Amino acid sequence: MQDYSATLTRVEDYFDRSATKVWERLTSDAPVSRIRQTVREGRDRMRAIMLSRLPSDLRGARVLDAGCGTGMMTADLAARGADVVAVDISPQLVAIAEARLDDALKPRVSFASGDMTCASHGRFDFVMAMDSLIYYRSADIADVLARIGARTAERVIFTVAPRTPFLMTFFTLGKAFPRADRSPTMIPQDWRQLARHTNNRVSRVERVSRGFYISECLEYRP
Ligand SMILES: C[S@@+](CC[C@H](N)C(=O)[O-])C[C@H]1O[C@@H](n2cnc3c(N)ncnc32)[C@H](O)[C@@H]1O
Repeated sequence: MQDYSATLTRVEDYFDRSATKVWERLTSDAPVSRIRQTVREGRDRMRAIMLSRLPSDLRGARVLDAGCGTGMMTADLAARGADVVAVDISPQLVAIAEARLDDALKPRVSFASGDMTCASHGRFDFVMAMDSLIYYRSADIADVLARIGARTAERVIFTVAPRTPFLMTFFTLGKAFPRADRSPTMIPQDWRQLARHTNNRVSRVERVSRGFYISECLEYRP
């Protein structure tokens, strides 16, 4: 858990201070560079894949958006009728998510800033964790899945950075030249290793590779 807490502190520092504005812009309609545009497109595709794993009518379902960021997934879940708990460790991003949410959807969403694994968030039918576990070691991801999964009736749908040659080079270079700032490092994962760590409860759904956005959707069955 020492690794988990240390990563969480880095993630909070990064998203709540250094990267808040960049993240706010990336997740808006404002013009961005060509590279960031590919990331936007990849993320849109990934959100669609993750949502396709859920029933289209989510009325009566309680869903956790774990690491909600600026609330893109939150809005889609609420639009499908879910009761959403949107949690992020960055209070600044939670405030942006809250301000961006359509007034008509507000009664369906409760926002909280804090750790996604906190038991006080309650029980869920589904959990969505898009790109929020990408900074953690596989043992920590398995632990998060076990803790959240114990309070989830159906499935936890989440993403990891896969071990592609490109992401592995990026990761290895990052270790050789540690960055001076406190930004968290993305850790590429082999989904089979995660399956082993979770008693084969993890299965692979689909990979998205669009320019600089490379992410793999996985599913955990409690
Ligand atoms: C790359 S962003 C993705 C945000 C959002 N899911 C999306 O796809 O737009 C990762 C988010 O996960 C949040 N996060 C990471 N670990 C967390 C944790 N343990 N508890 C709550 N939020 C966490 C970060 O603060 C950040 O906002």
